Amino acid sequence: MKKTGFIFDLDGVVVDTAKYHFLAWRKLANELGFEFTEVQNELFKGVSRKRCLEILLGIGGIQASQDQFDQWMIEKNIDYLNYIENMDASEILPDVPKILEYLKANDYAIALGSASKNATAILEKINLISYFDAIVDGNNVTKAKPDPEVFLIAAKSIQIQPENCVVFEDSMAGIVAANTAKMVSIGMGDAKILEQANYNFNDFTEIDIEFLELLSKS
Ligand code: BG6
Ligand code: MG
Repeated sequence: MKKTGFIFDLDGVVVDTAKYHFLAWRKLANELGFEFTEVQNELFKGVSRKRCLEILLGIGGIQASQDQFDQWMIEKNIDYLNYIENMDASEILPDVPKILEYLKANDYAIALGSASKNATAILEKINLISYFDAIVDGNNVTKAKPDPEVFLIAAKSIQIQPENCVVFEDSMAGIVAANTAKMVSIGMGDAKILEQANYNFNDFTEIDIEFLELLSKS
């Protein structure tokens, strides 16, 4: 195994699920009687389900009992799972398989570092699970991004030093988490939103093999 490890966020990096999270939160907001916009949704990217609901209720100015809160978390997830029920490999983001294939063929360690508790099910649906040497997701962490925990556990799982890890992220919270973990952060998406990243790309079609090798420490 090489000395450099590559850690991928899932939603919005590997697969186009960010829009389904948005639709499910917007449905709940509308049911509760207020609007929820794509701009507001930026704050939800990379953020745990629980924290998302707290922010959503804050936007709507809604107080909830613990029972009601838990019920809304369940409802949102049921709606989200309905949206992704028929998802397949066609929703993998452009050139992700090509990059994973290159890294695997060249003996780089690959990990998933996601806030989602649905990560394994999604990787199975889109048939990419076999590329990952470690999967660290919302079920394995106690502290959500921007805390670096998820990426530090991922680095440990693939036995790579954090400073030798490269993180692909589409969320502000995830970029902060990667930077705090002293990893190389790569913002995938809007460079204005992800301005704290070490490097920015719109998607993987802009990333070539030379760049991956440049990041490699071995
Ligand atoms: C992150 C998404 O990957 O996972 C967030 O960017 C989402 O929007 C979080 O809230 C938790 O996902 P899940 O599937 O456990 O509700
Ligand atoms: Mg994401």
